[in-house]
Amino acid sequence: MHEPKAAIIDRFARHVSSGKAAFFTQAGIDFVGGEREGIYLCDLDGKRLINCHCNGGVFNLGHRNPRIMAALQRALASYDIGNHHLMSAPRAALAARLADLSPGEIKRVVFGVSGGEAIDLAFKLARAHTKKPKIISALGGYHGHTGLALAAGDEVYRKPFEPLSTGFIQVPFGDMAVLEAAMGDDTAAVIFETIPATLGIAIPPEDFYAGVRRLCDQWGAVMIMDEVQTGLGRCGRVWGIDTYGVSPDIIVTGKGLSGGIYPISATLYADHLDAFLHENPFIHISTFGGAEVGCFVALEVLEMLEEPGFLEHICTMADVFKEGFAALLEKHPGVLVEARQRGLMMGLKLIDPRCGPWMTVAGFHSGLLTIYANNDPSVIQVLPPLIIQAEEARQVLRILDGMLLGLEAAFR
Ligand SMILES: Cc1ncc(COP(=O)(O)O)c(C=O)c1O
Repeated sequence: MHEPKAAIIDRFARHVSSGKAAFFTQAGIDFVGGEREGIYLCDLDGKRLINCHCNGGVFNLGHRNPRIMAALQRALASYDIGNHHLMSAPRAALAARLADLSPGEIKRVVFGVSGGEAIDLAFKLARAHTKKPKIISALGGYHGHTGLALAAGDEVYRKPFEPLSTGFIQVPFGDMAVLEAAMGDDTAAVIFETIPATLGIAIPPEDFYAGVRRLCDQWGAVMIMDEVQTGLGRCGRVWGIDTYGVSPDIIVTGKGLSGGIYPISATLYADHLDAFLHENPFIHISTFGGAEVGCFVALEVLEMLEEPGFLEHICTMADVFKEGFAALLEKHPGVLVEARQRGLMMGLKLIDPRCGPWMTVAGFHSGLLTIYANNDPSVIQVLPPLIIQAEEARQVLRILDGMLLGLEAAFR
């Protein structure tokens, strides 16, 4: 038996985050993570939620996936974190595998621990390679809370910490004309989340990335895709950008690469960007980046991703949701505006910004963990584990249906 939940919440409030404890208590979400398995995450008191948050892809393979845990146990028989300065067989093996799975000229990898750190490195590479300052990102986009990543993100998160690195500008996402006007011969890089999650699973025009590629080529800028959420199968292909048929210069991955078990991130970059790091191999250091036991975990993630039928399964589940969303749109026209989807990267756009937070709380009480998009709270994100089965997907749709009924009543 665990100690009473109230005592844990009190200790959390006193020693971890008083603000979070107050926020969740006020919202009526007294959730403290307990047992977890597959698509389910339980509260300490046993309340069971289907995890459609997945920490943005960390739990792509579900919680405590047995294959991932076995990979870590096998690695622990002979390895530990390793030495980040020295050469390493597991790091070389994982980098080679990531390169094989990546489009175009992408052949090289720098490992990190978090997505933000991997984004920072992408910017460092772009600036060092081009010797230019300007980095263009999306208004309302999100790339993490580390230094340079923060500078590329939304104003709300960076304002209190200014001055940050200069040279960052933001443009409305998906607007080719504005992007074109913002580009110039001082542009080092353009970065977008392939489908910005925090902006509300915003799906760009189909030809958008071909246009970004063209502009980057025209101005000699580096094209960076933040695939921290959209990568590793989420959109039905290995990388979300694969679904647009475009090869960027840099892909950043994180979250799901961990298998939900061991933190690891990676900046994948094209051969032509290598000269700077070749000459300065110790200029970017991360003690835990590419920890060797983590490499074995990530290799198992990629092994599963490449297995026959894995990506097909994602597309089949995406169809189940597509059909279900069409029915929900028909049934709830008063509150549900749009279903946004690319594979299992999904979001529901509701009539106004109060709806997302309302749905998050309603989901919690109905057995579904789903959060609203911070930079567009009229959208709730629906990001189930990729291993979800058809009947479980239908269960998610039934729960959403009930939540939307409640929303109609609440906002009548
Ligand atoms: C698209 C995207 N990029 C970068 C990050 C930063 O990753 P991390 O929190 O591991 O630093 C996140 C985290 O949510 C993300 O969603």
